[in-house]
Amino acid sequence: MIGSPVDYDKKFKENLPIQLAKLDWDLKKYLKLLPGKEVLDLGIGQGRNSIPLAKLGYNITGVDFSYKNLERCKELCPELNLVRADIRNFEIEKDKYDLISSRCVLHFFHKEDMYKIIDNIKKNLKINGLVYIYVFSLEDPKLQKLTNLNTFEVLGNNILHNVINDTFVSFFTKNEILDLFSDFKTISISEEYFLDQGNNTPYYSGIIKYTGQKITN
Ligand SMILES: C[S@@+](CC[C@H](N)C(=O)[O-])C[C@H]1O[C@@H](n2cnc3c(N)ncnc32)[C@H](O)[C@@H]1O
Repeated sequence: MIGSPVDYDKKFKENLPIQLAKLDWDLKKYLKLLPGKEVLDLGIGQGRNSIPLAKLGYNITGVDFSYKNLERCKELCPELNLVRADIRNFEIEKDKYDLISSRCVLHFFHKEDMYKIIDNIKKNLKINGLVYIYVFSLEDPKLQKLTNLNTFEVLGNNILHNVINDTFVSFFTKNEILDLFSDFKTISISEEYFLDQGNNTPYYSGIIKYTGQKITN
């Protein structure tokens, strides 16, 4: 593993408004393709997609490194099965999950670590199961902004290293994501640029969303 996990507990404010748990429309659209009800959420955060899925009757396992996010998830939805772990060394049970989701998480790694997580997902997802990921694109203004800060070292291949806390942030192209899943059937891939208003200070984000289906073992 390269560097440290991002520390969401430091960012967490006790009076943070509870984030609205709202299922992403593009994930919702493809639920009918799932072979069953077992869902793994890598980096569950405050349960944005997983809480609505649990309410729809899916069995959720949520993994996160942040104690505070896990506590908040438990408060909001006691039926979630929660695990505190670093997803870089979390062993995914083979052929158990019908959906493995990692929303807004896989860009917080050096790409070498991200590729290993993707391998772990691909190898262990159930056949016909879906993967759903959401990562920063090259259009995200943070790429330029962080590149200009002297606390970030620019490593090439759109990977930045925060030299203060030894964390990484990576930015992706659509083709990079499609290459990583070249053995999967693409169900949907899209790139978006939008004003994110879910925080105290709104900011622009550039993201790539990918949904794919495992078609061979
Ligand atoms: C931006 S939040 C996204 C949360 C949720 N998936 C969503 O879309 O709202 C990123 C989450 O990933 C978790 N995370 C980051 N690095 C992690 C790691 N190495 N292992 C486990 N969780 C991690 C953070 O603690 C945080 O809860």
